[in-house]
Amino acid sequence: MLLSIESSCDDSSIALTEIESRRLVLHKKISQEAEHARYGGVVPELASRLHAVDLPRLLESARPYFNDIKAVAVTNEPGLAVTLNEGVMMAKAFAAFQKLPLVPVHHLKGHIYSLFIEKPTRLPMIVILVSGGHTMILRVKGLEDMEILATSLDDSVGESYDKVAKMMGLGYPGGPIIEALAREGDENRFELPVPLRNSPLIAFSLSGLKNAVRLVIQELGGPEGMSEQDRRDLAASFQKALIAHLIQKSRKLLAKEAIPDVALVGGASANLAIRGAVEALCAQYGKRIHTAPLEFCSDNAAMIGRYGLDALAAGLTVAPEDLRVNPSRKL
Ligand code: KG4
Ligand code: ZN
Repeated sequence: MLLSIESSCDDSSIALTEIESRRLVLHKKISQEAEHARYGGVVPELASRLHAVDLPRLLESARPYFNDIKAVAVTNEPGLAVTLNEGVMMAKAFAAFQKLPLVPVHHLKGHIYSLFIEKPTRLPMIVILVSGGHTMILRVKGLEDMEILATSLDDSVGESYDKVAKMMGLGYPGGPIIEALAREGDENRFELPVPLRNSPLIAFSLSGLKNAVRLVIQELGGPEGMSEQDRRDLAASFQKALIAHLIQKSRKLLAKEAIPDVALVGGASANLAIRGAVEALCAQYGKRIHTAPLEFCSDNAAMIGRYGLDALAAGLTVAPEDLRVNPSRKL
């Protein structure tokens, strides 16, 4: 079995996956969302302290399988340095003690392989990745053959939901809160700018949209001055502009890509409005759309284990003393 560990942000998670059958045997996750909610975002030092408590507890739950574990996969890049360190330290200690090979896993590659936890590997694919840390479109051909076709110039999709929720005085993470409000709102009440609408650039930018939301909140008298209906309408109008932007830029790429399979992954891929819009776009271009089960959209160790299995088979292992944390590694 392969033990996998994830701690790149605010989720502590471990998983056990059978190496031959790729069957997920155990998957545990402790989300710190409630702890960070009162600060309106992730506080790295607090996250790191919580990982230090929660990761060993999760590992303890895998104790009955300890003798079956043949390798350890761990997220070592990118993410918050102090939280990545917690998972990497535990992985190194466990691997050194049990004399096991270590498999370093790039977090974004893990998100991409979340597609293959319950389904056979299907590559190549065009992958639209929308998470809290990243927004990009990639051409994925293999484990180490991934090319970034478009990326965000500033905020990510998940981050912009979080910031809009924070500006309205709502909780963290903002994605599910804004999505739920938007469902009840009038998306045409506030006219917000669709980012880079007239630019030929195939890239994403969300800071201008965020500022436009900020101005509307100010005009409504700040978060305290807003009615519940104002919040719903603003959430819906924000989501409409964001999706229009995501689709406009994705369309430009899909129109010229021959690869017939398209995937949507990352924490914000749990958003049903985003899913629906990407599905409709794919239908227009005759592409097959793939998504991960909802439980594997946000950060989890099962996806790290799934990538880790293929990396292990490809011999991409390192000695414990050579495993490094790279908080800002691209791909
Ligand atoms: O992939 P993820 O768990 O962590 C990173 O790798 O960043 O993504 C977390 C992000 C958060 O910003 C959260 O607000 C966003 O995903 N998110 C959503 C939804 N659920 C989570 N964004 C929009 N709509 C959602 N339903
Ligand atoms: Zn993630």
